[in-house]
Amino acid sequence: MNQAFFAGKSFTTDWLSPWLDTWTSVFKDRKHLAIDILEIGSFEGRSAVFFLEFFPQSKVICIDTFAGNDEHLDPSSKTFANMSDVEKRFDDNVHAYGPRIKKMKGHSVELLSKLTNEAQTFDVIYVDGDHHATSVYFDACIAWSLLKSDGIMILDDYRWKPEFPDHNRPKVGIDFFLKSISGQYLELHRDHQIIVQKISIAEDIEPSPYTSQSNLTSQSYGPVTIGGRQLDELSAGSVSPPLVSFVLINWNYGRYVGQTINSIKQQDYPFFECLVIDNGSTDNSKEVIETHIKGDDRFKTAYLDQNMGQLGAAIWSLNKIKGGFVTFVDADDVLFANFAATHLQAHLALPRSVAFTSSNMIEINDAGSLLTSLYCHININQSNFQKGFRDASKTLRFSSISDEQYLKIAEVTAYLPRWIRGWPWGPGTANMFRKSMLDLTKIGDGNSVLLRSADGHFNRACHSIAGSAVVDLPLSAYRVHGNNFFAQGESIRDLRNGTPAYHSKSNLDNYDSVAILFERVERFKWLLGDNYWTTVDRLAGTYSHRQRRKYFSTQRGEDIFLQNSVVLRKSLGDKDFVNAVVERNNRDRTNRILHAGFDGKTPFKSRARAMAMRALIIFPNSAKLIKRLKFKK
Ligand SMILES: C[S@@+](CC[C@H](N)C(=O)[O-])C[C@H]1O[C@@H](n2cnc3c(N)ncnc32)[C@H](O)[C@@H]1O
Repeated sequence: MNQAFFAGKSFTTDWLSPWLDTWTSVFKDRKHLAIDILEIGSFEGRSAVFFLEFFPQSKVICIDTFAGNDEHLDPSSKTFANMSDVEKRFDDNVHAYGPRIKKMKGHSVELLSKLTNEAQTFDVIYVDGDHHATSVYFDACIAWSLLKSDGIMILDDYRWKPEFPDHNRPKVGIDFFLKSISGQYLELHRDHQIIVQKISIAEDIEPSPYTSQSNLTSQSYGPVTIGGRQLDELSAGSVSPPLVSFVLINWNYGRYVGQTINSIKQQDYPFFECLVIDNGSTDNSKEVIETHIKGDDRFKTAYLDQNMGQLGAAIWSLNKIKGGFVTFVDADDVLFANFAATHLQAHLALPRSVAFTSSNMIEINDAGSLLTSLYCHININQSNFQKGFRDASKTLRFSSISDEQYLKIAEVTAYLPRWIRGWPWGPGTANMFRKSMLDLTKIGDGNSVLLRSADGHFNRACHSIAGSAVVDLPLSAYRVHGNNFFAQGESIRDLRNGTPAYHSKSNLDNYDSVAILFERVERFKWLLGDNYWTTVDRLAGTYSHRQRRKYFSTQRGEDIFLQNSVVLRKSLGDKDFVNAVVERNNRDRTNRILHAGFDGKTPFKSRARAMAMRALIIFPNSAKLIKRLKFKK
């Protein structure tokens, strides 16, 4: 399809076609953007024509000496070219694009310096000029400083002429260049070409009138270390620090959301992105959001037409974010500057990996005045909570957390095994999840309206599957303003939180959470093994036979069994299935669910065995009996 771009133009060479599929896939989401492109090395203009055609709203600057590379000048070479003809063909090929294309004839070193002095920046830069290692290194280094955050750089000819000496081919230059920008990029593609994307970091952000933006860059942040050695050096630049995704979900909180955005901007950990989702607000939220994120490339926005609910929007975001660690931020809360670094440090220093970390918080009122210095329902001094971090020398360390702070955080952090009950965490914003655990436990495919809190589902589901941790240090401020979904006022130890209506809704919502374990039984049975049913019970909050029967005695409870009965039977096997159904249901429901699970057939070989099973329903504690039941094959 892309070959049509070149029709009617004059080319004697084609070094481009093999990479066009890759380029098309890398650039597909930017196609309609009015982007600025810089090309170092244009020759007859084939790659320039591609950019101009593929991005119809782009502007392209082409730097070329039009003096050719070594291989173009050697008359015995297959790529020998008369360079004045080449330049003429370039001019003819790009002429039709008028002011969208600017030819800069000259040496890359001089012209890149000129662009630097003019403070020009680009969304895409293609490095395909001189092929000597030193030239490629130099071109790429200067060009990198001209690349915008999230911009894409293509480095050509990485595998070109392996038989040539190192100094005479791009590979070593590219390797050294990538090493020098370690931690600042994501690698999108590696083959004959290497394609990287600049991570959104603070260095090229316009100062905002509303907040003093962090000046952190990967260099100024300092190295991430293990055992005192730099991660970067140990991994030859192949491993970058974790990327945190903040997902800020706003619904008619125009009066607070600006402060929330400011608090994300001033994180002392620089490797983060933030997706701001407006859930169909009808107040001035959009204006406030735009004003506060202006010029900060780390922020992206999504304005939804309708309110998907906080959980609905959270799940919707999951295929749009890139971080391995995720915090859903409420638009009326405020993060402290050390939020991300402290949560990440806990994630990586705990004796075992957990699904999420949760921190304490202060409570503030509508105007931002302090009400409490902690959320009083957090208490990590409980038996079965396992306090502490791994030895500081054995774990990954962040430069913004000193040795002394590391020990202090370790003292107030506890690992909570997955069988710990209740709600031992900070609510809402106070949590940082592993992205993999969110993907595992999400409800639906990201297109459902789910009018419930993200923590209400994800904290319980993730914890009951893989455990959690609590950092008993306030890392955010929770705003109590009278219109909260959950809190009626600041937390006070002797008083319950929420309202009866809130609790009965969350009991009903809980069925949706349990349903994921039924719907994806095959996956969860594999992950959890013999703990599958205990996990279901933990998530349902049913710890006795009586509670289990009560839980599934509702219409919704029966429905999730009935709807998943076939897949449950197939994944668990006949006996486990029957056992689990009998354990959780009375006689009539058991009959209905077994009937559905066994495709409308009676599962038992004889009437006597069916009666034995009925006895079991009445005397469930004689579960050994079930082993004797024989099923039809
Ligand atoms: C391989 S060609 C570019 C091919 C083109 N990008 C394409 O895909 O059709 C390399 C070009 O880089 C130019 N070049 C080499 N060294 C350069 C330098 N230091 N500054 C500017 N251009 C240079 C050469 O004149 C040549 O036209």
